[in-house]
Amino acid sequence: MIARAFQQRRATTLALFEGIEETTFCRQVHPDFSPIGWHLGHIAYTESLWLLERSAGLRCLFPQYRKLFAADGLPKNERVQLPTLEEIRYYLSVVREEVLNYLKVADVEQEERLLRFLLQHESQHNEIITFILELFRSQETKVRNQESEDRSQELLFPPSRPSEMIQIPAGEFEIGNNSIDALDNEQPVHRIYLEAYWIDRYPVTCGQYRAFIEAGGYQNSCWWLPSGWEWLQTEFVTQPLYWCYDPAWHNHPVCGVSWYEAEAYSRFVGKRLPTEAEWEKAVSWDAKANRRRIYPWGDEKPTPKHCNFSIPHQDFASPQIGKTTSVDAYPAGQSAYGLYDALGNVWEWTASWFDRYSGFQSYPYVGYSQVYFDQQHRVLKGGSWATCPWSLRSSFRNWYHPTVRQLFAGFRCASNRSL
Ligand code: AVJ
Ligand code: FE
Repeated sequence: MIARAFQQRRATTLALFEGIEETTFCRQVHPDFSPIGWHLGHIAYTESLWLLERSAGLRCLFPQYRKLFAADGLPKNERVQLPTLEEIRYYLSVVREEVLNYLKVADVEQEERLLRFLLQHESQHNEIITFILELFRSQETKVRNQESEDRSQELLFPPSRPSEMIQIPAGEFEIGNNSIDALDNEQPVHRIYLEAYWIDRYPVTCGQYRAFIEAGGYQNSCWWLPSGWEWLQTEFVTQPLYWCYDPAWHNHPVCGVSWYEAEAYSRFVGKRLPTEAEWEKAVSWDAKANRRRIYPWGDEKPTPKHCNFSIPHQDFASPQIGKTTSVDAYPAGQSAYGLYDALGNVWEWTASWFDRYSGFQSYPYVGYSQVYFDQQHRVLKGGSWATCPWSLRSSFRNWYHPTVRQLFAGFRCASNRSL
């Protein structure tokens, strides 16, 4: 079973590299991100290190790649001299063959946590590869966007949907996840009491965000945190990264904003970002049954009727969507409290710093989560259209610097009172 999951994951990874040119493979599109070819080699390296070396006790198969593909090897800008795609594919396949051999004799039950970690690790690098490719594409179409911006005055925009808020009553709920799939940072499950609050039923749409742009939101420091305003002055940002002045996108969630932009917009509409706990309660708590759900809709695994996520190769008859969708497109994916679109479509920034839950134990290495408990990273929840099912669940925690806008991230707002 797990061997099949590994093969399926790999097919999806490799499919991302079909038709990719050598220059794209090795190019660093942004200082914060390594070339996509590096991510591919790093997937093989991680599998080899944790499963073959540390678990099976084999010697390193490709010692010449250790420095290059280790997460703590070379600085990102020195990861541009790479083996060819063919060579890295060979590396992947040799490592994988050894892995499958090992799985035939290993105590799979004992290795299960590690295997599930590796599947999620590859999934997350898949998503990073996807947004790096999107970044290349958005750089190519920058000129076109500029033109459409100039024309935007002539376009007819439908009125944007009024934001709708849901009241979440005061009370305790359970946050986190203790299952074998859960990453170290999701554990242990614990109870939290929250006062009553309000939260948006839908992520903020492009139509709604447009009002912020047109009101001069990017030119007025009053909406921004001092650190956000400072960042803005160095970046010359005037709209979300993946912005498109097209009425057809009006009901899609905003995508490609930094935490600072999400925070500023929230203030502009008189609201705030939800904390991670507020987000998770509204998305996963089933008050009637007094229990947490794995997904907003229940415990049934995600299918294309629930939300917009990255469908693995051969899994469903329906193809990948490959972009954002309307925020109200998935009524079957609602949470018990009635939130739409919490999983998939776009990641959602929260007000919370990424931090340990009390009782945290690092796994499989401190560099996975623990080194990021530094009050420099904000938590994102929910996954995007490019997130694979292995990382798609209400308890999953993603984290980035508040300045990062390359991932497929938007947000929804919260408030202490009804607005
Ligand atoms: C959870 C996406 C922030 O990219 O640093 C991949 C995922 N960690 N390999 C990252 C990760 C180690 C991580 N994020
Ligand atoms: Fe990694």
